[in-house]
Amino acid sequence: MKHLLKMLDLSTDEILEILNTADQLKYELKHGIPHRHLEGKTLGMIFQKSSTRTRVSFETGIYQLGGYGLFLSSRDLQIGRGEPVEDTARVLSRYLDGIMIRTFQQKEVEDLASFGTLPIINGLTDFCHPCQVLADLMTVREHKGYLDGLNMCYIGDGNNMANSLIVGGLKTGMRVSIGCPDSHQPDKAVLDFAAGYGNQYRMTSNILEAAADADVIFTDVWASMGQEDEAVERRRIFDGYQVNDKLLAVAHADCMVQHCLPAHRGEEITADVFEAHANEIFDEAENRLHAQKAVMVLTMGGK
Ligand code: CP
Ligand code: NVA
Repeated sequence: MKHLLKMLDLSTDEILEILNTADQLKYELKHGIPHRHLEGKTLGMIFQKSSTRTRVSFETGIYQLGGYGLFLSSRDLQIGRGEPVEDTARVLSRYLDGIMIRTFQQKEVEDLASFGTLPIINGLTDFCHPCQVLADLMTVREHKGYLDGLNMCYIGDGNNMANSLIVGGLKTGMRVSIGCPDSHQPDKAVLDFAAGYGNQYRMTSNILEAAADADVIFTDVWASMGQEDEAVERRRIFDGYQVNDKLLAVAHADCMVQHCLPAHRGEEITADVFEAHANEIFDEAENRLHAQKAVMVLTMGGK
């Protein structure tokens, strides 16, 4: 695997290879087995948006693999003052062994990959969040034992999380059901992709229909990073698109709840549901570390 730019680029076999490698690395970490597969390698981590989990898990992950992570805020880089991505990519390719980037436009990530000569890992764009969804799939598989044939449901904004979950879920054999307002559906490229899966994919503005018989329900914030100005309007639009006890009542009795975090209790999820499923949600957060270590090992070539 050369890069991790978006879930659409990955084959089912590549997704499963990442998940299997992540399980192995998690086992090794928990049992004190050395796994310094990236000894002496450097990862540049470019952040144009805030982060808790992505930053800390990548920095810790590259360290555990024997490498070194450089935190590069766009405020400090010349990219923030208009240096073109194509030049930044060619310069950083001369110093580093890999780049993780969190930014707004997907095009910027794709450009880094085309102009640079080193692996690029997408740490979230407005379009997608592949690292998160790999951790999500890992967590669901860990709790349920398998993915193929499970019913995945996502409630809320048709945003970067929805886009990535649809693709990751369908490619691993899950039935994917989206409950979102007609005005905030997932990206057209993702809907076109899902159309090829027939009845395995469905989308409705009725969240009780979307969550019927779910094995796992995902949700995410109503206003993503960069949409802060729309927060009030979005609270009105998404009113009712909430993961609560009434929604869980139509799902399977052992339905998991996942949230990429940060969570807004009382908006997309109630505090009660969040706390009842906190164990699964923080497993999901932990698995960012293991899934991303797998992505780094497989792209940066240490294994
Ligand atoms: N879920 C996630 O990506 O969290 P951060 O924004 O804290 O990195
Ligand atoms: N949709 C959210 C995900 C945060 C991890 C955002 O883009 O802000």
